[in-house]
Amino acid sequence: MTLDGKRILLIISGGVAAYKALELARRLMDVGADVRGVLTPGGAQFITPLSVAALTGNPCYTDLFSLKDEAEMGHIQLSRDADLILVAPASADLMAKMAAGIAGDLATTLLLATDKPVMVAPAMNLEMWAHAATQRNVEQLQNDGIHFIMPGTGMMACGEVGAGRLAEVPDMVAAVEGFWSVGAGSLTGKHIIVTAGPTQEAIDPVRYIANRSSGRQGYAIAASLVRLGAKVTLVSGPTSLAAPSGVNFVQVESAREMAVAVDAAIPADAAICVAAVADWHITNTSDQKMKKSRDGIPQLEFADNPDILQGLSTKQEDRPALVVGFAAETQDVIRHASEKRLRKGCDWIVANDVSANSGVMGGCNNQVHLIDDSGADSWPQMTKEAVAAKLATKIASALDNDLNE
Ligand code: C5P
Repeated sequence: MTLDGKRILLIISGGVAAYKALELARRLMDVGADVRGVLTPGGAQFITPLSVAALTGNPCYTDLFSLKDEAEMGHIQLSRDADLILVAPASADLMAKMAAGIAGDLATTLLLATDKPVMVAPAMNLEMWAHAATQRNVEQLQNDGIHFIMPGTGMMACGEVGAGRLAEVPDMVAAVEGFWSVGAGSLTGKHIIVTAGPTQEAIDPVRYIANRSSGRQGYAIAASLVRLGAKVTLVSGPTSLAAPSGVNFVQVESAREMAVAVDAAIPADAAICVAAVADWHITNTSDQKMKKSRDGIPQLEFADNPDILQGLSTKQEDRPALVVGFAAETQDVIRHASEKRLRKGCDWIVANDVSANSGVMGGCNNQVHLIDDSGADSWPQMTKEAVAAKLATKIASALDNDLNE
């Protein structure tokens, strides 16, 4: 199992999301971890020490000055005994104390006394998360070497919708597993732009032209890159997917908006263009909804869209060290994709067969060929998540070699 023998000290601070820490503890144990719980006074308002102890099979610690706990295991030893300290959920208050080095209770004392890596999964109301003070603390903690499992976006317990929601349990487990996996941290300090999803090209205020791209492959690549420690800007056309935890998410509609957003995200160490960008936009769009009876059959006129991949590949200044394109082909896949690599000027092309019977568009699996200047490497059929993980590892070693050249 991935976390066999790993000891995780799980600090649960105050917030409605505290109940999810119980599920998190179980899922970490499912993959082999030994979990010990610590409840802050705020956390203990939401769940009880008894439920944490019963679920983890270990004592749950709550009090810095507990004679019983200190006799069993002193707080310094508790902080050192773990392989990783995981704070989930981390409240704004706890992060502020961590950033300031305050050690007024058991949790904050453990966090200050530890010599082990610390991972933090924040959860709070969206205004609290967006507040300059919280963002300042996050930056300070990142500079202090704390690892973050960034909150997701969605409906909050308070009824508001936005960023600040505790990352989903499987994402938190994956982040912990990724911490010890091969290549973990290998993209730390690297900025990578990923484009994903379809674009929508407006016809009138209610109609548009788009394509069948689901965004799944691009989102999976963004998530894998985050797991390896990269700072990822995910520029996405409209999809039904939730943005992966930890990405800097930029939502766009049209190809021209995508090009502007990508440009704004430069400089970057790598750019992975997975988006199915429309080749054309409509020039004679209507400001009002076109009427069937009055306007007759519309004659749409088209103009070229900017080619984002080609633009990035041929940049004179600030060209990312690695530019990767995707080629969705329906026949003679490797030959067409190799030609596309040369035409666009990118370093790699990931080619796949999207013919009707391949089931790739919108499906879960993909079978790709990675084409670089030395030829094509054909990967077996696998899930889009597995393609993403393999590609992310290749990107990490390519950027590493680039640095060492
Ligand atoms: O030319 P084609 O659309 O087949 O090329 C596909 C590759 O080029 C993909 O990586 C896609 O993201 C990128 N592309 C782009 N901007 C366009 C068209 C395609 O970035 N306008």
